[in-house]
Amino acid sequence: MSGIAIVPGSGNRGLAERVAADLGSEPLETRSRRFPDGELDVAVDPRIRNADAFVVQPTGPPVDQHLVELLLLADACRRAGAARVTAVIPYLGYARKDRRTAPGDAVGLAVVADLLGPGRIDGAVLVDPHVPQIDSVFDVPLEVVSAVPTLAASLAQELGDDTVVVAPDLGALPLAERYADELAIDAVAVIRKNRLSGTEVEVTGLVGDGGRHQRVVVDDMISTGGTVAAAAGLLADRWDPGEILVAATHGVLVGDAAERIARLRPSAIAVSDTLPVRGLPPSGRVVGVGPVLADAIRRIHG
Ligand code: R5P
Repeated sequence: MSGIAIVPGSGNRGLAERVAADLGSEPLETRSRRFPDGELDVAVDPRIRNADAFVVQPTGPPVDQHLVELLLLADACRRAGAARVTAVIPYLGYARKDRRTAPGDAVGLAVVADLLGPGRIDGAVLVDPHVPQIDSVFDVPLEVVSAVPTLAASLAQELGDDTVVVAPDLGALPLAERYADELAIDAVAVIRKNRLSGTEVEVTGLVGDGGRHQRVVVDDMISTGGTVAAAAGLLADRWDPGEILVAATHGVLVGDAAERIARLRPSAIAVSDTLPVRGLPPSGRVVGVGPVLADAIRRIHG
């Protein structure tokens, strides 16, 4: 086989199919089974020999299983003689642990970048990774693409003049600036947030004009929904109810996150399909990253 081969993992098979369709093909056949002791065993269609292989696998929950599956699929491609193996990782798990936050901590992102190193893959495609300086931890070439323009476009029709883009924590401020640029909104506010645990955050203040009628809360991901809920709570406490809109690239939505977000009664919530998304409120929409991934694959292949 020559040309592009899309190799789907189980992390988001639907997205792999959409990417393949955009490229005018179908995902390659793979085989996956578990031994009685829980070990995973995968195989790819041996016709992948000489192909330019793109393994599509977000490492969302269950993160460790999807990560190992990605590593095994890449290994299967290499051993079957693929000319090159690129990991297309629409959502990169462990990216939030990019530094030690307490003495004795491990740095998950460094370990994952090491596992996804030269010898295992030849490069990777990532969508809106949590850390902007992601290149500095990976030793393979990265192609970073974004869902922000598509997410912003999906909200644009509903936004008026009295609107502010809100970063729910300091780390999201560059992202909020990007949304403000895309949407031609002149107001950006940032919330001061402390993370208390994996599920709890506290918000202690806001810098900027949060009092506009429409508040677009943006983040790279919604995991438990605690960050978005705390931001919406602070905005509602300080100013008249107004409208809350939410945009995030990765709808991880663990536990009761979708219900938590629904209770905020957002007038719109947009996430992308980097992960399979379930349970959004009626005002929710899922925008596709298939076309931007297919473009990235064409660029790399070309
Ligand atoms: C934090 O640094 C991230 O940008 C997100 O704000 C956070 O991971 C979202 O998690 P959760 O929805 O659990 O608050």
